[in-house]
Formats: sequence, structure tokens, C-alpha cells
Amino acid sequence: MLETIEDTNSLEELEGIRVKLFGKKGSLAGEFAKLKDIPPKEKKAFAEGLNKKKASLQKAFDTQYEILKAREIEKMLKSEAIDVSLYSSLSKKGALHPVMETMDKIIDYFVAMNFAVESGPMVEDDFHNFEALNLPKYHPARDMQDTFYFKDGGLLRTHTSPVQIRTMLETKPPIRMIAPGTVFRRDYDLTHTPMFHQVEGLVVDSKDKVSFANLKSILEDFLKYMFGDVEVRFRPSFFPFTEPSAEVDISCIFCKGDGCRVCSHTGWLEVLGCGIVDQNVFKAVGYDDVSGYAFGLGVERFAMLMHKIPDLRSLFEGDIRLLEQFR
Ligand code: DAH
Repeated sequence: MLETIEDTNSLEELEGIRVKLFGKKGSLAGEFAKLKDIPPKEKKAFAEGLNKKKASLQKAFDTQYEILKAREIEKMLKSEAIDVSLYSSLSKKGALHPVMETMDKIIDYFVAMNFAVESGPMVEDDFHNFEALNLPKYHPARDMQDTFYFKDGGLLRTHTSPVQIRTMLETKPPIRMIAPGTVFRRDYDLTHTPMFHQVEGLVVDSKDKVSFANLKSILEDFLKYMFGDVEVRFRPSFFPFTEPSAEVDISCIFCKGDGCRVCSHTGWLEVLGCGIVDQNVFKAVGYDDVSGYAFGLGVERFAMLMHKIPDLRSLFEGDIRLLEQFR
């Protein structure tokens, strides 16, 4: 029997022997059953012999089990090994979406300039999206933003400016933040999609520390970082949340200012809005005796200009061939 154990070549084979030997109806059980017919005088010796036999068989079994188990593991390691160096022609390289890439570049600039990155909810309420930003109900400027409303009065934020309000309500001045995020408007044409992205900026500090000159200098530097050697001009404009307000243009990066179709033959491209925070906004969040500047820009507009993308809608069609061009 010992040899039979040592001759087994697989765990199944060994298991078969275990049943035959040690099982309830196995040969050892059979021999132990004979014990009752043995004369009392010989019983002890007989039982001792049997127990010895059983122990030596058990030992042989355990040893063989270890050997076979180790062999099996070895075999498995070999058969399941993966050649990680094997070339696969199926792998496809991805690419950052141009909007994300542009967003990252914008964020990198302001983080380097010591701005904190804040965020807020996409589903907003009237107070944060409008009221607190000096856009009371029935204010005509609300029409500038074609809003998606929910039945309960909630809305999809039309700009990232509500994050200004949330940040000011949550913290105390000084504040130096940007808010990159997704925004929504009922708009759809070559240069507008119902979902797009903005980056908002806000700096709040004591009155002697914030000026229009600060705003102008950082935005000029930022736009040169984004677009290279361009001219930057500030044009007086209107936003309800800033006073004074300005729109910022760069010299056309396509015609260098000579005039072309992209710049409507003006030589200038409008790229963002900004201004000195209106005191009504500070009143709405309970701030007193501070000053601030703010700005807001559309990320898709930047991406379109930087990559000469003719139709904004192509950015959101999910066509892999678009991304392949940006690898
Ligand atoms: N919220 C404006 C918009 O969506 C952009 C903007 C303009 C933000 C001027 C500002 C700002 O903070 O000062 O059109």
C-alpha cells in the first residue's frame, strides 16, 4: 500500500486512494472491524499493530500530498503565466479632450498664481445664480442667459459665478479663487452648445489691496500665457455683478490684427468678461468694507481659438476621430 501512495501522479489519484484506505468503508476500517472477533488476549497487540500501520500510511499520504500539491502549483504558474512584453496591435492610445486640456492649462496658470480651486453644484437656485449676483427678478439682464428651469424653481447654473457667492458665504476675506465648471444655456449653433464650461475668478481683499490695475495686469499676463505674443485690450462693458465692467479682447491670432473672417474683420477676438465686484454683491453675502475683482471666461471659446475648431458642436459628438487629431 505504501508504494501505491508513493506512485500516485496526481491529487485525484491520491484522493482515490485516500477513500479506499481511510474511508468509512476503506480497507483500514475493514481491518479495525475484525478487532471484535480477535480473542481478548491478542486484542492489544493486534490493535497496536493496526494503529502503527495506520500512522505510517497517514504519514506517507501527507508527504505525497505535499509533493503533488507543490507540483500542481508549479504547473499552474507555468500555464497561467502572462508575457507582459508581448506586443499587442489592439491597444489604442487615448487623448485628453481639447476642452479638458484647455481647462487644465487655465487652472495651472491660476494655481501657480496662488488661486484656490473651488466648486459648486450644477443644479442651482435663483439666489446663488442670479439674486445675490445683483440680478434681481425681472432684471432685463436675466435675458442674457437662456436658463433651463426645473418645475420646483431650481435651475441649471448658467455660469460659474454662483461659486463666487458660495465661497464668500462659506469663508471670510481675503479670497483668491477660481471656479472651473460645467454650465448650461438654451443655445445651439456653430459657437454655442447647451452644455459648456467656464472658469470664474474672484479676488477679495481690503480696499487698499485691490484695484483695476491688478485685474488688468494678471489678465494680460494670463492671456499671453495662453495665446502667446498677443495684444490685449479692455473694452468698457456691462455685467450686473461688476462695476465698472470690461470685456477683454486679444489681437486676432489668425490674421495678427489685419482683419479676417474669424475676427469679423475687426482684428480683435473677444475672450472674457471682468470687472470690479459690485458692492451689491458684497451686501448679499454680508461682506463689508472690502473690494474685489472678478472675471469669467468660456473654456470652449479658448479651445476653439487655440485649435482652430470651426464647429463647437463637434467637440461633444463623441466621435473618436476628433480626439485622434489631438494625440
Ligand atoms: N458670468 C459671466 C457670463 O457667464 C461671465 C463673467 C463676466 C463673470 C464678468 C465675471 C465677471 O465674474 O466679472 O457671461
